[in-house]
Amino acid sequence: MHLDVCRHFFTVEFVKHYIDLLARYKMNSFHWHLTDDQGWRIEIKKYPKLTEVGGWRKGSQVGPYSRREYDSIPYGGFYTQEQIREVVAYAAARHINVVPEIEMPGHAMAALAAYPELGCTGGPYEVQRGWGVFDDVFCAGNDTVFTVLEDVLTEVMELFHSAYIHIGGDECPKERWKTCPKCQARMKAEGLKDEHELQSYFIQRIEKFVNSKGRKIIGWDEILEGGLAPNAAVMSWRGTEGGVAAAQSGHYAVMTPGDYCYFDKYQGDPANEPLAIGGYLTVQKVYRYEPVPAELNAEEAKYILGAQGNVWTEYILTPEHVEYMAVPRMLALAEVLWTPKEKRHEADFINRLESEFPSLDAMHVNYAKSLFEVQFRLGQGAVPGTVKLDLRSAIPSKIGYTDTDTAGVFNYVGPFDVEGQDRTISAGLYEKHGRFPKVSSRTFQFNLATAHPITLSVQPDEQYNEGGAFTLVDGITAQEKRVNTEWLGWRKGVTITVDLGSEQAIGHIGIGALNETHSWIHLPKEVVFSISSDGKNFVPYGIAKGMDAVGRNEFSIDKTGKARYVRIAVKHIGNIPEGFAGAGKPAWLFLDEVDVR
Ligand code: ACM
Ligand code: ZN
Repeated sequence: MHLDVCRHFFTVEFVKHYIDLLARYKMNSFHWHLTDDQGWRIEIKKYPKLTEVGGWRKGSQVGPYSRREYDSIPYGGFYTQEQIREVVAYAAARHINVVPEIEMPGHAMAALAAYPELGCTGGPYEVQRGWGVFDDVFCAGNDTVFTVLEDVLTEVMELFHSAYIHIGGDECPKERWKTCPKCQARMKAEGLKDEHELQSYFIQRIEKFVNSKGRKIIGWDEILEGGLAPNAAVMSWRGTEGGVAAAQSGHYAVMTPGDYCYFDKYQGDPANEPLAIGGYLTVQKVYRYEPVPAELNAEEAKYILGAQGNVWTEYILTPEHVEYMAVPRMLALAEVLWTPKEKRHEADFINRLESEFPSLDAMHVNYAKSLFEVQFRLGQGAVPGTVKLDLRSAIPSKIGYTDTDTAGVFNYVGPFDVEGQDRTISAGLYEKHGRFPKVSSRTFQFNLATAHPITLSVQPDEQYNEGGAFTLVDGITAQEKRVNTEWLGWRKGVTITVDLGSEQAIGHIGIGALNETHSWIHLPKEVVFSISSDGKNFVPYGIAKGMDAVGRNEFSIDKTGKARYVRIAVKHIGNIPEGFAGAGKPAWLFLDEVDVR
């Protein structure tokens, strides 16, 4: 298990409590994320300003990232070396190894604020109030940077016994290096062909130093780009590809792919959850994770050291909230990791999990009860224009629901169809009401496309295809509190065709797309609409483009016409432009809800 103490700081007392929880559920490694743009949290005797300056920021980002709002309440904290020793010993007594992470060359703003001469421009820099990826990083052309980082790592290696030292390596923009004379001179002197090779130079130089002290490096999967010493290990976070590549090239890997291991995502109906970074990861989904990638043969599989649950704390301010995000998902991951695949049984796990809750209550652990919300499964109803509603519960319990259309309260007896009348349906487990009082709801808005046959030219990426194509016509408009069940995601363009059933007079066609660039989700380049009466010959209806609001944008055209078939060609922007998170990788395209009126 990992804990980010930079975005928000957690006391030694809580860190020990967290370690107690790890020990109880047989997690044997604690990845302590100690430095980042928003705070440097470990005392370094030789460079006191790292914590005196770098440990504090002028305020913090508040609310959803898209609003870019900040408070002006000074915020900070750090651990003294004495406290670090205390935590390491506390963990060791519970058979837990502590892996410290010192981030480089990116996520370095707090260090640069303390020692601006370590950046390419010389600053001034500030400890960041907001979350994200920042262009100012350690200068790779300045030897002083390596001297300082080696001194820092020397103190770190005295404090931690871990064979592996985590050196970060993720999300390092190359903007500053491109125009920095020192970085450019380094590239020339070392014969490096671009700034990506300069990043490898940086990591390998640090790696050699760490190795010279008898330790090994581990880093986020970006460190694979450009070659590594044989004893470097990789933490696979951008999917599983990094772990696969590492294992196939004889490097150890820890699997922590975002889809299954990022415990900062929503775990239940977002309406009932505290604000989270986005995404949807239920405890059941964690339990379905298979940490050894299917691509590996038995020999390669030996290089998978294990898997890790990450608790990034941009939106997590309190110990209670950390507990809420980590538990019970950590319990599911622990069982996945310690139990042979053929012995894992989801229903049995859920059953045993429920019997663990009284112990967690006794320990005053604020675990999430989201598992016991009613889950809505939506599908095509018996006739076009109707949505089949299937309400599920993870545990045996009666389900009750209300419907604003009929203003009634009902016992749920089985799936039923909802017809073309706007309404909100709310459901809960009433036998478990005392302990699990959360009610979840869906608001349906019907338009001419709702619950009509839909075809896609390309299926969504499997990561973001939970509800399939029907998601786009299920009557539910996806929210900005982003969950996979409501948005479909592609890394390419797609053409969508909906059959309205008969030729009709129309005046509007639209589709929603998400603009959340910090999560690599970009708007389409343009959306081309066309209509047809026979499904073969389509005539242009209009092109929508130029939207740029953050969050959900509706690409639409208002025009009178007659159509039975509506076609929506959504054009992908290609790779993420420079200056954005994930630059150079294919952008995500997130769509939800076709609107035809
Ligand atoms: C990461 O989530 N940037 C490793
Ligand atoms: Zn530089």
